[in-house]
Amino acid sequence: MKRVMRGAVLASVAAAAVTGCVTDKGACETMSKGCEPSVVVKPFGKTKDGQLVQQYTLTGAGGVVMDVIDYGGKVVRLFTPDRTGAKTDITLGFNEVAGYETHDPYFGSLIGRYGNRIAKGTFTLDGVTYRLPINNEPGGLPCSLHGGKRGFDAYVWHSEPLSEGRSVGVKFWMTSPDGDQGYPGKLDVTVCYWLTPENVWRIEYEAVTDKATPINLTQHLYFNFKGEAEGTILDHELTLFADRMTPVDKGLIPTGEVVPVKGTPFDFTTPWPIGARIQADNEQLRFGGGYDHNWVLNNQSGKLAPAAALYEKSTGRFMEVWTTEPAIQFYCGNFLTDQVPSKKPGKKLCYRGGLALETQHSPDSPNQPAFPSTILRPGAVYKSATEYRFGVK
Ligand code: GLA
Repeated sequence: MKRVMRGAVLASVAAAAVTGCVTDKGACETMSKGCEPSVVVKPFGKTKDGQLVQQYTLTGAGGVVMDVIDYGGKVVRLFTPDRTGAKTDITLGFNEVAGYETHDPYFGSLIGRYGNRIAKGTFTLDGVTYRLPINNEPGGLPCSLHGGKRGFDAYVWHSEPLSEGRSVGVKFWMTSPDGDQGYPGKLDVTVCYWLTPENVWRIEYEAVTDKATPINLTQHLYFNFKGEAEGTILDHELTLFADRMTPVDKGLIPTGEVVPVKGTPFDFTTPWPIGARIQADNEQLRFGGGYDHNWVLNNQSGKLAPAAALYEKSTGRFMEVWTTEPAIQFYCGNFLTDQVPSKKPGKKLCYRGGLALETQHSPDSPNQPAFPSTILRPGAVYKSATEYRFGVK
């Protein structure tokens, strides 16, 4: 999608903000009839080092509303209609910046430079060995997870509102300096979120570097279609457009094999309730503590194609995930506990209270020569797009 010049965007945003469609709570009052699309910007809070964090409320013409902050490009709240038209916040997050600074489930965040794990926090590129911070140790095996000790999720990004036709959005950009978290090259990253009248949340990623470097950007939104803090996601029905997956060792690092899912609890080629086979006697499920694995998508064309579908029958909420990426991490909240606070007073999150569908290249690709390359070289442009398409059935 084309970006609109800043001045024009601000004017259209100011006009939209006075239509009265958006309330202070970010809810659209005329949901069933559709909304005037708008972007409303207001302060969200401050980081512990005093940086101001802005919130963008995107109201889509189709009625989906999302609150997004420039700290980590996090989606704080996401309201979608159920089959009666009633809207609920279906994502996990925090009401304050401090929640994000204290807990580390990466709720709603942009993830970079490298989404997922790099074994032992090291890789060799063009004959040079690089060392990354170790910030995760599943099964006692150290790795670098989601960009290291301070990934892109923990930065206040530059941002501005976007609008084109009846789509609204927000553009985020930042520069990660050469050597940031041990990675080579100065990396300029731009990410645009668009909310379309068809209730599609489209994410467009772009990056350039001045030295060869691995890159694997993703979004770590957690879904619970019954609503935030409304129990587990084990009853959600998942489809993955993937005939194969990458088995892992106990450190959740791929062994390098790519195996068929047919006949295993990892076969989601037809819809399955997430909880149906999660207790199966299966080594991979034991290593992950449930599902926390990477599926190789059937689409390897680099063009946008279906990756996943998710359905929850009591609310009728349905979503398709489309991506240009070759793989998807399905994580079912095995590390979540009721110690992570809910956004709702008096409510608690729980073990497996949300799930993430993270489009990406496979984990540890810089150390896995047989996997599609994640190396971006100077002169090339990294481009990736993912769409979360919301609806009801
Ligand atoms: C990813 C990983 C999980 C976990 C979460 C964050 O999805 O695959 O193992 O680390 O991030 O809690």
